[in-house]
Amino acid sequence: SLAAFPIGVAVNAGFENNSIINSGTSAQQQAVVFPNFNQMTAGNIMKMGYLHPQETTFTFDQADAFVAFAHTNGIDVHGHTLIWHADYQVPSFMTNYTGDFAAMLKTHVQTIVSHFKGQVVSWDVVNEALADDGQPTVDNILRSSLFSQKMGQAFIDQAFVNARAVDPQVDLFYNDYNIEAGGQKTTNLLALIDGMRSRGVPITGVGFQMHVTIDWPTITAIESSLKAVADRGLKVKISELDVSMKSAYTSFTADAALRQQQRYHDIVAAYLRAVPAAQRAGITVWGVWDTDSWINQPGSPDWPLLFDGNFAPKPALQGFKDALVGN
Ligand code: G3I
Repeated sequence: SLAAFPIGVAVNAGFENNSIINSGTSAQQQAVVFPNFNQMTAGNIMKMGYLHPQETTFTFDQADAFVAFAHTNGIDVHGHTLIWHADYQVPSFMTNYTGDFAAMLKTHVQTIVSHFKGQVVSWDVVNEALADDGQPTVDNILRSSLFSQKMGQAFIDQAFVNARAVDPQVDLFYNDYNIEAGGQKTTNLLALIDGMRSRGVPITGVGFQMHVTIDWPTITAIESSLKAVADRGLKVKISELDVSMKSAYTSFTADAALRQQQRYHDIVAAYLRAVPAAQRAGITVWGVWDTDSWINQPGSPDWPLLFDGNFAPKPALQGFKDALVGN
């Protein structure tokens, strides 16, 4: 492995195109993933709609096959994600629920965490609950969502308490984007975790998704945001790292490649400066190769990852590795 802490990658599995397990690109993906990473996150198949499509139906077969594949190859799994408001991931039975919502959500969390007890090292318990800067809020800091409307901040507290009750070991993360930017959302993150800790809610750490661009946010903002969480004694994970280039480039030039190499280096170096070794939950990149990145869209190409469309290592990988030397 590249470091003394986890180095992870998000992958497709199960039903998805380009599954790392059983697709036309599997062999090429495995050839770059196995030597460079020791943790995987399922990019999709462990989200709520796939694991819990109907109130009394849990479907674990694809996720179980993914976890078994990871373990066969000596790779740990980070679970993503137990609760996420996004329309296309919330099962419709939850959207339309008329019964005891908190009890229903407790069953959701505890059934899934129990199923994967001993099989995953950590969970994103709640994903993307904070409001974006300038947007309306619930309980001052949360986005308006099914969950915040039904329960306010209690949906977050209870999710962590309920997860911990069925698995005393697994690390429990709050995960979000743009919390590394140092704006209102970072302030609100700190209010969220300080409140949780004052109420005795068992949060292990914070996942900074880190979907950044080539020039935003600044390294200074990233480092101080990571440090603010580390200073509270929590674990810190970079959970979905990618470096989008399309704000500055319409093709992936040599200049773009070198700037991206430096950017990956600087983000990893900022993480190492900000987070003491014992609190490093690791760094995960959000995808294997540029062609399959969520940012790379038809008509709007991008080159955000460590391997190119031919699975060749990019200069970005060298920047990433250089920063890790000795760590
Ligand atoms: O299952 C359908 C398939 O039947 C259909 O043919 C195909 C056509 O587009 O879509 C398939 O589902 C897609 C799914 O990925 C599986 O590949 C969805 O449309 C698509 O919306 C979904 O996108 C994922 C997105 O989350 C929404 O869940 C991305 O791959 C994934 O990278 C992205 O990841 C999120 C993190 O979970 C949370 N943080 C932000 C990050 C980036 O958006």
